[in-house]
Amino acid sequence: MVSLAEAERLKRAAAAAAVEEVQEGMVVGLGTGSTAAHVVQLLAPRVAAGLDITAVATSRVTEAAARAAGIRLVAPDALTAIDLCIDGVDEIDPRLRAIKGGGGAMLLEKIVATLARRNIAIADGSKRVARLGARAVPIEILPAARGLVAAEIMRFGGTAELRLRDGGPWVTDWGHHILDARFPDLADPAALTRTLSAIPGTLGHGLFLTEIDALYVAASDGVSRQERPIDE
Ligand code: A5P
Repeated sequence: MVSLAEAERLKRAAAAAAVEEVQEGMVVGLGTGSTAAHVVQLLAPRVAAGLDITAVATSRVTEAAARAAGIRLVAPDALTAIDLCIDGVDEIDPRLRAIKGGGGAMLLEKIVATLARRNIAIADGSKRVARLGARAVPIEILPAARGLVAAEIMRFGGTAELRLRDGGPWVTDWGHHILDARFPDLADPAALTRTLSAIPGTLGHGLFLTEIDALYVAASDGVSRQERPIDE
């Protein structure tokens, strides 16, 4: 178990390695969470020194941080592609399949990741898992679909719990609720994504099985990069 200070140092090291890929003129997706926050901090001095980029934020929190850092922002609405996205993960397996959404921003994170020509995950070593599923899979839902989605999760062998904050349901940036789904054995995450996509009222989920192109992971002896094999 590493100290909190060491964990932050590792997150920043992974972010710093990924930020090296940001080049003049790029449209860059900025992720959400404590690891992705380092990306904004690391870009700020480069932008102040003249780096000309445009950023797309994946949450209101990231948007506020980027604005405070002096990074020019554009809304994703009109974009058909972006150059690069850098974001954290909650879990990532050896095939670069990930669970995201611990911070509740997975819907826009997925949109921005899908727009991105290159999508980089950044993490400290604690996020690496041999197999996905130790953490809950967050599912963004219309409140009216809560029972329906929970029933489908049960049919898939899991349980679903409404995420709470301040004594009420967690409300996403988009005004929706989140069900955190847990599975005793998430043997086939691709089947779960197909199931979730077919349920009316499911607006997004935190399974990122195909989006991530590369992972920068920081350990005490340095940062390593892993690329997704071409045929995956
Ligand atoms: C936000 O919704 C999440 O997808 C985060 O990117 C993910 O939870 C990683 O967050 P940390 O870097 O804070 O662990």
